[in-house]
Amino acid sequence: MRISVIGAGYVGLVTGACLAELGHTVLCTDNDATKIGILECGKLPIFEPGLESIVAKNRKNGHLSFSAELAKAVAGGDVIFICVGTPPLPNGDADLSSIDRVAQMIAAESESDKLVVEKSTVPAQTGQQLKRVLEIYGRGKTIRFRVASNPEFLREGTAVGDFLHPDRIVVGVDDETAEKQLRKIYRPVLEQGFDCPVHNGSCPRGNPPAWLVTTINSAELIKHASNSFLAIKISYANMVSDLAEKLGANVEEVMHGVGLDPRIGAHFFKPGLGFGGFCLPKDLQAFVRLAERHGVDFSMLREAERINHHRVEGFVEKLRHSLWVLKGKKIGVLGLAFKANTDDIRFAPSIELIKQLQHEGVDVIAYDPQAMEKIHVRLPELNCALNAYEAAQGADALLIVTEWPEFQRLDWKRVHQGMARPLVLDGRNLLSAEEMSALGFEYESIGRPRAGQAIPTALA
Ligand code: UDX
Repeated sequence: MRISVIGAGYVGLVTGACLAELGHTVLCTDNDATKIGILECGKLPIFEPGLESIVAKNRKNGHLSFSAELAKAVAGGDVIFICVGTPPLPNGDADLSSIDRVAQMIAAESESDKLVVEKSTVPAQTGQQLKRVLEIYGRGKTIRFRVASNPEFLREGTAVGDFLHPDRIVVGVDDETAEKQLRKIYRPVLEQGFDCPVHNGSCPRGNPPAWLVTTINSAELIKHASNSFLAIKISYANMVSDLAEKLGANVEEVMHGVGLDPRIGAHFFKPGLGFGGFCLPKDLQAFVRLAERHGVDFSMLREAERINHHRVEGFVEKLRHSLWVLKGKKIGVLGLAFKANTDDIRFAPSIELIKQLQHEGVDVIAYDPQAMEKIHVRLPELNCALNAYEAAQGADALLIVTEWPEFQRLDWKRVHQGMARPLVLDGRNLLSAEEMSALGFEYESIGRPRAGQAIPTALA
């Protein structure tokens, strides 16, 4: 099928490339001509494992092309996937202005029937508004606009595998034709009749995904409800880790034990510096605002947000407890991306952490395997290291902020030799307390006892 994808960001680019990989003819567009220019030069404006190869392959075989002209993309597609950003407004509502602008352009430029698919994460009832805009701005045309919601469940770092081997495909439609078109688009994924081109272990071949057809409102709500529940799990683990620390328990063993109950599940119970990224934080806010606008009490999610908000502050207090005085200290930060295997720093805990440390007069030097370009744009004054060893050189403390596997493989003896004080605070429980202690480090982590730590006596 002829498909157009509007928005060439983390979601749009993966969606366009993977739909081309499924055999469709895809034209991907973005209003940022620089981004399109980078793509037309065979490069990617983002880091996403496996994406570069399937973009190159499908550009070469003609299944995938790029354009900065939205009109051309609209004219060229029978099905149009809207993958534009919906960032949070100051009050937490989702900013839907890009959706509105694109919908008006689609209505104005369309000369034939279109299926317009909401891939961007939007509050429930956005699809209804989208239909109204298409009808109003397409008034007088003898064409028909169908609208569907098809939320993405892509995780950055495994997005290609998540697209081609999803555990579920959710479609929200209000007519059968739209459902048939979407089923045709996703048929290869439903049949799982292809080898995943990404070999990073995130492509469990063979299990056909669940195909869930529902209304547009319900599909939109599934997305917000899913991400918000993931956020609750993370905040729950972080809350329990704070108590585990006081009691000398090990939060990883505790949450492993909890997760053994199949009704609960083990995933998303890793304590640390909290959830960041361009999805969980904003989706949680938008979901709460949607509920509050409709007079429904979502204070449970407000609490999950509050717990998350204080993770960085708690980590700085942990550092202060070890260093006593922060002002004038030199501190290395390992990891800037909001999670490993991405270069995305949006809503990353590292940003808030660096701001708090610099506010206290700390000399921060930071390193990340992939996010250095993006952090330089966001924090141009930040002192950046070329590698982890340089970030640790002469440091009074070293903070692990993103769980990059590269940091596990460091020569920690060499790190120890370079540091002014061998103090490591591991914000992602990436390393072993016993191993770090045996290497002579003062090592602190999240919700786990220090190596050899005496079990605190019960409070009197
Ligand atoms: C998330 C959802 O997982 C995905 O389904 C949705 O489509 C988009 O949003 P993503 O934001 O890419 O994906 O990353 P995810 O792996 O969910 O991690 C989000 C944040 O939570 C990261 O900052 C990560 O460090 C943190 N996290 C995750 C934890 O702190 N603990 C965990 O156990 C898991």
